[in-house]
Amino acid sequence: MKISQKKSLKPYNTFGLEVKADYFAEANSVYEIVSALNFAREENLKIMLLNGGSNLLLTHDFEGLILKLNLKGIEIIDENEDFVWVKVQSGENWHDFVQWTLEKDFGGLENLSLIPGNSGTAPMQNIGAYGVEIKDKMTELSALHIENREIEIFTNAECQFGYRESIFKNERKGQFIILDVTFQLTKKNHFLNTSYGAITSELDKLNIKNPTIQDISKAVISIRQSKLPDPKDIGNSGSFFKNPMIPKSEFEKLQKEFPAISGYVSGEEVKVAAGWLIENAGWKGKRFGDAGVHEKQALVLVNYGNATGQEIYDLSQRIMDDILDKFGIQLEREVNII
Ligand code: EPU
Repeated sequence: MKISQKKSLKPYNTFGLEVKADYFAEANSVYEIVSALNFAREENLKIMLLNGGSNLLLTHDFEGLILKLNLKGIEIIDENEDFVWVKVQSGENWHDFVQWTLEKDFGGLENLSLIPGNSGTAPMQNIGAYGVEIKDKMTELSALHIENREIEIFTNAECQFGYRESIFKNERKGQFIILDVTFQLTKKNHFLNTSYGAITSELDKLNIKNPTIQDISKAVISIRQSKLPDPKDIGNSGSFFKNPMIPKSEFEKLQKEFPAISGYVSGEEVKVAAGWLIENAGWKGKRFGDAGVHEKQALVLVNYGNATGQEIYDLSQRIMDDILDKFGIQLEREVNII
């Protein structure tokens, strides 16, 4: 396995930020992962894992070893008349994997089309879109314990999934390398999730009456492409902030002052659309040098070319301070800040 030094990470993070890593290695197998871990241990280096680099804001050069995970492969591990269990290796691109399931007519992941990143990082933050989260379809995953080098199986419940949360971002943070993820998908009688308003209107627009899972994927792709910037064109990391949960009573107070405020009731709490707050505080489309707020989706911060991670971080802080000041709501970042 080749280990490079002073490696530019620009091609490896979807924000397109120019930072360097002291050491950089790519692992194509568990054996190579362990070799890289051994190297880091011998040299006493900090280690950071990189998968798709799609949920990452790099604010400075990295003094340590960056390990890029390239484990590949998709296999059907079990099936019966109704369901199929598919295991995907962590280095497979997420969207390509979703398209593979749709080509086979396996249902369940269609609403999660076109989410950037690789399959192994999807469970870390329980990726979700248009009414579906990965936790609804995942059965288990296997992960390598970085310290003791043992492979452990985590069931869905053991991952402790929440809204953009899992045990791997909390209690067991930095302890595991996710190797593969298994999903239970439908072979027939697919359950179509069109509850998210934008999907229904997109299907109408496409003039589709009885949608298939492939049609839902098409609708999702079309909505995402119309709102979310493609990292190939403009550096970004999807939603930069989480949608904040606030007590219903607090939301009702805000509604009196801002009748158009957007939020979804969930029990005694309301998930407020952070995009609405940011847009209505006047930040949508604002640009400072090469750091900016996307013009079509205020939840997405962008790098127009040569912004630094620090500039994007500073912009996010100004937005957070302003939202707290105007609406009394504390926003939380969704991306990992390094
Ligand atoms: N809105 C605005 N202005 C904006 C953006 C949004 O007013 O600039 C309001 C609108 O009222 C809209 C509502 O916010 O109806 C919701 O917007 P949208 O459907 O675009 O979804 P979101 O809440 O902004 C979340 C996820 C996205 C996911 C979409 C669709 C989070 C942090 N983000 O965004 O996930 O694709 O729903 O399900 O939960 C990601 O995590 O990287 C991501 C892109």
